[in-house]
Amino acid sequence: MPNLKKIQFPRDWVDRKTNGHRISVITAYDATFSSLFASTEIDAILVGDSLAMTVQGHRTTLPATLDEMIYHCKMVRRGAPDSFIIGDMPFGSYQTGVEPGISACFRMIKEGHVDAVKLEGAEAVTVQIIKQLTAAGVPVMGHIGLTPQSYLKIGGYRVQGKTETEAQRLAQEAATLEEAGCFSLVMELIVAQVASEITNKIRIPSIGIGSGIGTTGQVLVMHDLLGMDPKFQARHAKKYADLAVIIRRAAEEYHQEVHSGVFPGEAQSF
Ligand code: KIV
Repeated sequence: MPNLKKIQFPRDWVDRKTNGHRISVITAYDATFSSLFASTEIDAILVGDSLAMTVQGHRTTLPATLDEMIYHCKMVRRGAPDSFIIGDMPFGSYQTGVEPGISACFRMIKEGHVDAVKLEGAEAVTVQIIKQLTAAGVPVMGHIGLTPQSYLKIGGYRVQGKTETEAQRLAQEAATLEEAGCFSLVMELIVAQVASEITNKIRIPSIGIGSGIGTTGQVLVMHDLLGMDPKFQARHAKKYADLAVIIRRAAEEYHQEVHSGVFPGEAQSF
């Protein structure tokens, strides 16, 4: 039985915003890390399709499949049985139509054991799916601004909301997604002022990433936060640890000790 006292409910997120509380979200892709994060006070875990890049080694998020996302969600759930977990719907799993989109989201909930799903953008088909899901009781997180699944259409990984037209479109998308029933909205790489203004206009919390200080909460990719990729340092991300250095050092020390005969020693022998 999950610990219901610990579980957060999406409608509480709206109350938190109303009461001026902020919300922290971190990505996780397996049970090792989700159990570590579950032992902190972090508010929610996102199984992001960023795993296509961080775990699978692809250049974009596009290759992640629904089966792979479900596989990772299951692992994350095993490590964090009582956490509020959001599963990211991968590219191609919901853009093809309302019926297949809804079925894909139900698979994510039933097989991946997540509490909520996240869909990118505010295309007509996506909005229709969100309306039907929320009517059926499925909590949905929206995602506007830089939506990596449509980076080709957007013209690359660039900051959104730089022109008045773009800012108005983002505000319209936020209103549409709130109206469709989303319990929160990821705002990715949006000009800070624009993200802040939109946050003030909507009732639901905004979860920012690279969108300044005026959003209700923040989400960070765990690999960025932990410094797992020595080659990558996005301006919006803050490194809270330098694990790449620690991991390499440990592996190198192990190698040296095997070669020099220091490991295994008496202590590790039976
Ligand atoms: O896939 C992901 O990790 C995401 C976050 C960056 C919001 O969508």
